[in-house]
Amino acid sequence: MSDHVRNVEFRFLAEPTHVNFGGKVHGGMVMKWIDQAAYACAARWSGQYCVTVSVGTIRFRRPILVGHLVELDAKVVHTGTSSMHIFIQVRSGTTQDTKLAETNHCIITFVALDEQGKPTAVPAFVATTEEDKFLEQYAIQMKDFSQSVEQQMLDFYQQKGE
Ligand SMILES: CC(C)(COP(=O)(O)OP(=O)(O)OC[C@H]1O[C@@H](n2cnc3c(N)ncnc32)[C@H](O)[C@@H]1OP(=O)(O)O)[C@@H](O)C(=O)NCCC(=O)NCCS
Repeated sequence: MSDHVRNVEFRFLAEPTHVNFGGKVHGGMVMKWIDQAAYACAARWSGQYCVTVSVGTIRFRRPILVGHLVELDAKVVHTGTSSMHIFIQVRSGTTQDTKLAETNHCIITFVALDEQGKPTAVPAFVATTEEDKFLEQYAIQMKDFSQSVEQQMLDFYQQKGE
């Protein structure tokens, strides 16, 4: 395992400005937090400016309510040449809860850019534990699926001449 910082944790309270008319945190707000935590994680790992390239499936499992303690745990689970694949878990609960419940998880991919804005190499992540090996395969499958359906869409519209 390298010396690069692999994890980033965010912890804060859901505020009234984060919620929708039903009193639950906006899905878009949760996606923004995920993007921010993953950005910090990718930038720390690579030591470079990074941009979001793809977000895997996000399933909203349970709502986050105003006043809840929210925790995001982001960690690098796979690297390519310029890409970093970050696994994020979002958990929430009341401030009195001893254990927070998972509300979302996803894989989000960032690419490190050099000063010319071109993709640049990142330090390699090596999975050693059983869980890390599982999460690395999960990230690879997510990338392969995302790229393959994207290619199908491009082919479809190319055949139609669009
Ligand atoms: C990110 C960007 C510079 C990549 O440039 P590009 O020439 O398309 O680069 P590539 O096609 O070689 O892809 C770069 C990496 O992304 C990976 N990638 C591409 N599509 C992917 C997907 N759907 N899922 C996961 N990884 C993906 C590639 O595998 C490659 O990884 P590698 O270097 O580790 O092999 C360019 O697409 C871009 O500027 N996108 C907009 C980014 C942005 O504005 N984000 C939102 C605001 S931060």
